[in-house]
Amino acid sequence: MAGKTTKPTKKAPLRAKAVLATHKKAESTRKGKGAQVPDLELEAAKDVIEKVRRSAKQITTSSTAEYFAKNLQQVGFSSPTKAVLTTLKEALDNALDACEDHGILPEIRLHVEKLGPGTLKNTDQIMIRVEDNGPGIDAGDVPKVFGEYLASSKFGRGRCSRGQQGIGISAATTWAMQTAASGARVITKQKSTKKAFSCVVDMDLKNNRGILRDKVQIDWNRAHGTSVEFTLDGRIQLNGEAGLLNYIRSTVLLNPHMTLHYNITDVPKTSIERVTSVCPVAPEATEPHPHTMKLGEFISHARLYGRIKTAVWLKRGFSRVTDKTLTELVKVQKLPQAVLGKMIDTLPDEDFKRLFAALQNMPLPPPATDSVLSVGEEGLALSIRRIGDMDFFSVLTRKPTIADFKPVQVEVAIARRKDRSGADNDEAVQVLRFANRVPLQFDKAACAIVKAISSVNWRSYGLRQPKNGLPLGPYIFAVSVVSPFIKFKNASKETIDASEELVDELRKALMQAGQRLSRYLSREHKAGELEQRVQHIEQFGPILVETLVRILNAPEERKRRAEEGLSLLLERDTKGLKKDLVAAEDRLASYLEEKKQRLAGFFAGLEVEDASLLAQGAEAAAEAAAMGAQVEGVLSEATDQDKPGRAMGGKKRDRKPPAATVADRSAVKAATKPGRKRTTKA
Ligand SMILES: Nc1ncnc2c1ncn2[C@@H]1O[C@H](COP(=O)(O)OP(=O)(O)OP(=O)(O)O)[C@@H](O)[C@H]1O
Ligand SMILES: [Mg+2]
Repeated sequence: MAGKTTKPTKKAPLRAKAVLATHKKAESTRKGKGAQVPDLELEAAKDVIEKVRRSAKQITTSSTAEYFAKNLQQVGFSSPTKAVLTTLKEALDNALDACEDHGILPEIRLHVEKLGPGTLKNTDQIMIRVEDNGPGIDAGDVPKVFGEYLASSKFGRGRCSRGQQGIGISAATTWAMQTAASGARVITKQKSTKKAFSCVVDMDLKNNRGILRDKVQIDWNRAHGTSVEFTLDGRIQLNGEAGLLNYIRSTVLLNPHMTLHYNITDVPKTSIERVTSVCPVAPEATEPHPHTMKLGEFISHARLYGRIKTAVWLKRGFSRVTDKTLTELVKVQKLPQAVLGKMIDTLPDEDFKRLFAALQNMPLPPPATDSVLSVGEEGLALSIRRIGDMDFFSVLTRKPTIADFKPVQVEVAIARRKDRSGADNDEAVQVLRFANRVPLQFDKAACAIVKAISSVNWRSYGLRQPKNGLPLGPYIFAVSVVSPFIKFKNASKETIDASEELVDELRKALMQAGQRLSRYLSREHKAGELEQRVQHIEQFGPILVETLVRILNAPEERKRRAEEGLSLLLERDTKGLKKDLVAAEDRLASYLEEKKQRLAGFFAGLEVEDASLLAQGAEAAAEAAAMGAQVEGVLSEATDQDKPGRAMGGKKRDRKPPAATVADRSAVKAATKPGRKRTTKA
């Protein structure tokens, strides 16, 4: 036994415990015949147990990259299908952000190609390449951009951009490395360089950094831009809500200034030209609004400004803080004037707390509108139009507000499909969700937008709705949330966190939109009723005239004039209508032409305006309803008297078919009413 020690293998602690137990038993039965444990073995056992104890206390660390590599599902790589969409989305969103930041009209080429079978079960090996004409990336930044997590140019800028986390494209590199053992192949060129820089970026997960290989300067037929290419295991899903084509279509519609060429396996090669040469103005970064900060952030913010007076810091470091604010801080909020005169770098915590509390209690104007860039009416209209023809469309844009300490702006569009014959009348409304102009395609149920829609009582606005569910019917609800920092539920940016404040803001927008819808529906209902009444009067009016003429023994001329008067009252006088109609058609044609030119390549039809004309038409119909009621009141007595005659087979009137329905007349009225605003902003 001498010299033989117990090796600390995996089973060693167990064995050591057994040795110790035997030893203890032997001790307790020393006088008995208990087994004896040799001293050497006993020492070794104690040693092993001590080592195990020590190692249990040892804390090791792992890098951010290692964390994400183990949890790629959290950043949108939870299935081979999603891996393809997320990779494409991250690269395209980056390209659009980069162009927007530099005022470049984006021209983007997407290439998605099935190369063969993948190494994972039921997958294909897929090549995804996204090429942009953006500003390009400095060669020194390439390893950070594609190979390092939490590296971004967008952190805390106070601007609305598609990306905000510094995770997206590095996650794509990680998936490609994990599934196909290949990094990101990058070509990038800035305007100032003659040649392009080409390389492959691999990831050093242990140290969260990118490693470049195959570095070479090449000639590239582009003035500037970036091309990134991944080879990965995945599955291409083209159609459906979560399909590639849906994502591409929505992105095209929300970015009318983008020219896109795509070449995707099993899809005809497509080029979509931009329909506007106006680049969205990248929203200016605004200083933070005091109401968007917590105390700790407030104090850290001060540290960035070095040695300046508190009053100067407040005006320089925040938006919506003016001289008037400072005066009121002292006068109304009773902040000692001395605090404002102190240097910010030596301001005691107590003063920070007082200042912070006073600012929070003060009513301040909402955050600047220019810190958010909304989708806009046209973007929402186009997104909805791609689903089909609509006969009602209304957009509501809320003023920016603060939710969860960040400026947020909510837009809601509600539309109703023209074709209501389908079975989907009993299905939930279709919801389109957008976050900073990026369509959201997954995890709908948990999203703040869906939660807010479900929590509104749509029954009171004339829609059917199961308890706590989405309303039913042929409606489309498009909801956009824009903010310099959107609180997503997780890092995959698929679902907006349903915080109480945001849901509340969304509900306000939805309820306002609901009121408009409800007004429209009730007008539509009234218009239907009016048409019925008018038809009723048309049926009995001539009988009335004839009866009166007979009773009064009136001449033929009188009868003719009475009939003409009646038709004029009922607005069935076709001459006037025809004239109006021709004028309206002319106006519509020239409007359509102008619209077509703007949207050439997208849609030839008329959408928002079409619907709003009808909406205005309904308004006009409501006016006509009042007149109809009057006419009906005058004639109802006489009509009742005439009814028996009709029942007895009274003379059937040789009635002209109505020249125009109520809707037609309303449309004419609406179209001829100049200068009507299409939508009202909240
Ligand atoms: N095509 C590109 N052209 C120029 N710069 C780019 C391009 N792609 C990425 N970048 C730069 O690389 C940074 C990191 O990109 P990444 O997608 O990882 O993060 P992000 O876009 O900032 O945030 P998110 O994780 O939310 O997408 C970006 O902030 C941007 O500065
Ligand atoms: Mg990004």
